[in-house]
Amino acid sequence: MSGRFSNRKILTSKPALDEYNQKYHELYFSLGDAATYKRLRIVESGLVSCFDDSNIYDPQKLQVMSLTKEGEVLGVTSFGIFTNSKRTESQNLYARIDLVITEKKWRGFGVARILVLSVLVYILELYRKRLYSISCLAAHEAIANILESISFTGDRRDEKGFTHETLSFEAIDPNEYFTVRKSELEDNLDKCYQKLYKK
Ligand SMILES: CC(C)(COP(=O)(O)OP(=O)(O)OC[C@H]1O[C@@H](n2cnc3c(N)ncnc32)[C@H](O)[C@@H]1OP(=O)(O)O)[C@@H](O)C(=O)NCCC(=O)NCCS
Repeated sequence: MSGRFSNRKILTSKPALDEYNQKYHELYFSLGDAATYKRLRIVESGLVSCFDDSNIYDPQKLQVMSLTKEGEVLGVTSFGIFTNSKRTESQNLYARIDLVITEKKWRGFGVARILVLSVLVYILELYRKRLYSISCLAAHEAIANILESISFTGDRRDEKGFTHETLSFEAIDPNEYFTVRKSELEDNLDKCYQKLYKK
């Protein structure tokens, strides 16, 4: 089997990302590729995942999304969706974007921005009616900048170098936010595709 199709056994099964997988044959989103996540984390050994602390986040809830180009991994991101049992409202879910890692060779092509947008589109497509916030402990300025450019609010870097980034749906309409991010993801996929293939 050629590298191009080697990841296709892992299906996204979600409409928006499936749509992009069909449009860009060479670029492919997959869910659940834990082996890739582990491999990239080992290379970036200094990164701390919120799922490492099982007292706070159940490691079973860790989800992984990866992006490949003709079967070659460009990057990976981990995330999770959780229920806040203390909230009585129907909006009782919150999401956490955990780690974003781009393969060294593919940095500077817009992969991290695509991964962040694709996770948001994925989460919002499924859960936007019940989601009240999304947060991320950004360990890298690039991630903090990406999130702040899409309406997240960041604290100043803490002593460990993390910036706490949060998006609350108290004041933002999740439907509108979803539509705008989806369109940005499409634009960024076009841009990234052109850069990768130097068109
Ligand atoms: C951080 C990381 C994911 C960025 O990946 P990338 O694919 O090169 O990023 P992108 O090409 O999508 O760039 C996204 C934005 O960040 C900016 N950026 C990239 N590297 C940057 C850096 N070192 N410092 C500040 N900004 C940076 C880009 O200019 C770009 O800005 P723009 O979208 O406004 O043009 C990558 O460097 C990496 O994997 N680092 C090691 C792991 C890590 O620290 N991950 C963060 C854990 S939360």
